[in-house]
Amino acid sequence: MAGVTLEQVSKIYPPSVTAVEPLDLEIADGEFVVLVGPSGCGKTTLLRMIAGLEAVTTGRVLVGARDVTRVAPQARDIAMVFQSYALYPQMTVRENLAFPLKTRRVRRAEIAERVEAVARTLDIAELLDRKPGQLSGGQRQRVAIGRATIRQPQVFLMDEPLSNLDAKLRVEMRAELARLHLRLGTTTIYVTHDQVEAMTLGQRVVVMRGGALQQCDTPRALFGTPENLFVATFIGSPTMNLVDAELADGAVSFGGLSVIVDGWKSLGSEPRPVILGIRPAAFGVPGPGADPTLPRLRVIPDVVEELGTETHVLFSMEGCASAFGPALLNGSAPRSSGLARFTAVVDGTNAINRGAPLELIIRREHLHIFDPHTGAALRR
Ligand SMILES: Nc1ncnc2c1ncn2[C@@H]1O[C@H](COP(=O)(O)OP(=O)(O)OP(=O)(O)O)[C@@H](O)[C@H]1O
Ligand SMILES: [Mg+2]
Repeated sequence: MAGVTLEQVSKIYPPSVTAVEPLDLEIADGEFVVLVGPSGCGKTTLLRMIAGLEAVTTGRVLVGARDVTRVAPQARDIAMVFQSYALYPQMTVRENLAFPLKTRRVRRAEIAERVEAVARTLDIAELLDRKPGQLSGGQRQRVAIGRATIRQPQVFLMDEPLSNLDAKLRVEMRAELARLHLRLGTTTIYVTHDQVEAMTLGQRVVVMRGGALQQCDTPRALFGTPENLFVATFIGSPTMNLVDAELADGAVSFGGLSVIVDGWKSLGSEPRPVILGIRPAAFGVPGPGADPTLPRLRVIPDVVEELGTETHVLFSMEGCASAFGPALLNGSAPRSSGLARFTAVVDGTNAINRGAPLELIIRREHLHIFDPHTGAALRR
């Protein structure tokens, strides 16, 4: 097996569509890396350049120490699973699985052995004599994965392989993919636009936007220390609350509330406008033993969504304005005037009523401060 290195890899579709800006990425041998970002941000293009299905405009692609930039797809020792599983409809599952080995002239006895082994691993041994048309979506997806893994490639590329499945099956297949990776240990690059899928599957996650890499980090680091407003709002559900605030004397103020913030490196002493990001989980319902030094606010819930283990509480605050991160970064900055909306996620055991006053605490470790002009996070 081998890792993958991208050096200044970019793609411009003629005449002038920049799909991927020059990008550096080093993926370790055996690592599971997820590329995530909104539609059109360049995920598929990047994957196809790694597979060799698309020529790079600039840069180099290495598999292990080998420069494969000009090597044909079949010779790269990389397997790819597409969103449409692209199984051969006229062939049985067995023949579909055997196909990549047949074209490589593997001996018949060995083919039979490997087909059985892969079928057992993926729990499709009962289906070997059926054709794809006689399978469910999840089963077809397993066959597609089996066909890609059977020749034991150095690198495994997957482009939204779960997007055709219903929600429950997606969650099941997600866990199965994680187990499969644990067992095979093949370097995997996985594309999705679903941040939950990215966070649950990726050892590291690459967040892309408009063809540019925004941040590449562990899920924990992306959530805890997003480098800019885009990553902060793209990762995490419900989305981080953003509010226009002022930073002065070591405290950040909005809507009549002042929260002491310490430990940020680049605060400076001059008062300055900032965007304050508050993760929904920063809010909590104070119990009897709650830390009395934590900032508190009284709110009137507009909407209460009881999901079982957690409850989402939506409320508004007067005297401050919601800031919208991605819109801000696009140069247009629509803001609601004088009324900011928040979502708090609190423990589901609390009884909370719509319209009834509620006291909430704010935990400082889930606060983030951003420069309103560049969107960059101020670092702790
Ligand atoms: N063959 C092509 N010719 C010209 N432009 C292209 C071509 N393929 C893709 N693009 C453009 O390149 C950009 C990146 O496309 P890409 O398919 O990589 O996005 P993506 O992140 O995979 O999106 P999605 O989540 O919708 O699959 C888009 O703006 C797209 O319109
Ligand atoms: Mg795509």
